[in-house]
Amino acid sequence: MSATFRIAPSILSADFARLGDEVRSVVDAGADWIHFDVMDNHYVPNLSFGPMVCKALRGHSRVPIDVHLMVRPVDALATAFAEAGADLISFHPDASTHVDRTLQLIAGAGCKAGLVFNPAAPLDVLDWVIDKVDLVLIMSVNPGFGGQGFIDSALRKIERARKRIDASGRDIRLEVDGGIKADNIRRVADAGADTFVAGSAIFGQRDYRAVIDSMRAELAR
Ligand code: DX5
Ligand code: ZN
Repeated sequence: MSATFRIAPSILSADFARLGDEVRSVVDAGADWIHFDVMDNHYVPNLSFGPMVCKALRGHSRVPIDVHLMVRPVDALATAFAEAGADLISFHPDASTHVDRTLQLIAGAGCKAGLVFNPAAPLDVLDWVIDKVDLVLIMSVNPGFGGQGFIDSALRKIERARKRIDASGRDIRLEVDGGIKADNIRRVADAGADTFVAGSAIFGQRDYRAVIDSMRAELAR
């Protein structure tokens, strides 16, 4: 298991009226990545922000921007986010007609590529494309909204994903998204995750640094 844990605050729960300030504050508070949730009111029943907002925020973040696409179709937006300054781009395999081609498109655009698995989605596609994946993202809520409760079956899926990643011998991050808080992050890390998205747990508190520090303290236990 990777010892270098990453915490990726999701700005879906930030104050949208002050997004640039929010990104700077949470980076100053110790965020390792900025998690950028893109929703299209089609693949998921909610609408958030697109590549123009990513481009506007790029200069406010000195850490990688981790784009989570919850959109269908994927390819045109993946290209637009690469041009907008994204560092990592992840998509749901069931949202892309040609998963292998989309992974190549993201890599060809100079970004790290990730696959995202919904709570009821199997990991089987990894058998065929793991050589083209830099990140596996396990959803521990159904995508579309922040502030939902952690779905426990995600722990078993994280364990299985960890085995596949270790067997591949590749440097692939294992990220978890949904319902992560200081009081469950240790269990999620024990299952094999090394990268943690947290939206409401961080932006729902006044002191972002205190929350991120408490998560790191749990991870260091
Ligand atoms: C859900 C998003 C998540 C969400 C996490 O569709 O992918 O990134 O913002 O929010 P919390 O941490 O509040 O569950
Ligand atoms: Zn997300």
